[in-house]
Amino acid sequence: MASHSRNIDIDMDKDNNSYNKNNKNDILVTPWEVHGDLEDKNYVKLIEKFGTQSISQEIIEKIKKLTGEVHPLIKSQYFFSHRDLDWILNKYEKGEPFYLYTGRGPSGFIHIGHILPWLFTKYLQDKFGSKLLFQITDDEKFLYNVGITKETISNYTYENLLDIIAIGFNPKLTKIIIDTKHINHLYPIATEIARKITFSTAKAVFGFTNTTNIGMIGFPPIQAAPCFLPSIIEKVPTPVLIPAAIDQDPYWRVTRDIAEKLGFYKPAQIHSKFLPSLSRLYKMSSSKPETAILTIDEPEIVEKKVLSAFTGGQPTISLQRKLGANADICPVYWYLKYFFDDEKESFERYIKCKSGNLLCGECKSDLANHTRDFVIEFKAKREKAKDKVEEYMFD
Ligand code: TRP
Repeated sequence: MASHSRNIDIDMDKDNNSYNKNNKNDILVTPWEVHGDLEDKNYVKLIEKFGTQSISQEIIEKIKKLTGEVHPLIKSQYFFSHRDLDWILNKYEKGEPFYLYTGRGPSGFIHIGHILPWLFTKYLQDKFGSKLLFQITDDEKFLYNVGITKETISNYTYENLLDIIAIGFNPKLTKIIIDTKHINHLYPIATEIARKITFSTAKAVFGFTNTTNIGMIGFPPIQAAPCFLPSIIEKVPTPVLIPAAIDQDPYWRVTRDIAEKLGFYKPAQIHSKFLPSLSRLYKMSSSKPETAILTIDEPEIVEKKVLSAFTGGQPTISLQRKLGANADICPVYWYLKYFFDDEKESFERYIKCKSGNLLCGECKSDLANHTRDFVIEFKAKREKAKDKVEEYMFD
């Protein structure tokens, strides 16, 4: 763990750029670390602290008008927050297309929590016909983790690349940028960005300290650069929408601050929640492989992991029948809801669970079956991806 991350409480006060101490029960969210209970009320607090917006009924109506439907991940509020989503939809409505931009730090194998925002990004690409830039920040992960070797990062970069391609993005509209490989495209913009951001701002937003290595301090403009690259590629100011988990918001906050000074639009965002691990109410992490379902896991392992998951159940069957269980804190319920159940199924599951008419074993077995099938299918797509790497690469 890099030392700078230990005491970052990015409780940015939106009015005066100052920071409050994190409350003990709140989620601590930085681009490199997430701790705390992932309950709905804590996400509401994050919206306030980060100064983002919740996704209003008006925006949902606009999405419905433009695409004819509303994606279940928006309906279920998995994507729960945004900046300028209304603005970008209005632009689109007036005939101005937008780019999508998202990314991955290759610090480990991919677990299915990572995939959810990518599937949503593909959906947006299909619905809006958007071009997509997908950044792989191999430099960031090398700089952040002082114990990791370049070979390890490079191996994860390749493995993650296969997962990204397996999502099925439109190859004609998608370019993957690997920072260390495509730095020549990023560097000219990154230096313009870097010149506009002071150390004092970077410290305040990212929590850098005197013991942070200077590579980390200099990194944020590299992640900001793809926000402006579309305008350079297209040779006109081009709106960009970033679908990402909310932990990446500090990057966009500094990027938005300087965008107009450089003659670009501020990047818009749509923020997701975190999918927790199967063990507790924390962010799912691939560094704890026993609780994360990896796309490279063998089907038997997937089943085993699901069957030993944490649930919101009671200690005994009779108590569960009598008192019901707690779906609100149950990762098994959440996985079924976000990945596999439709709205009606999920609602019925919730009611049956709460009223004691459903035992955890049944949900686990449903989830084990679904995830096993999912992983088998996804692995086949990963195999095919091996021949498509060049096709997706940024030139
Ligand atoms: N920093 C991100 C990570 O560690 C990777 C990333 C780069 C990213 N650009 C992005 C994520 C844009 C979301 C959107 O995972």
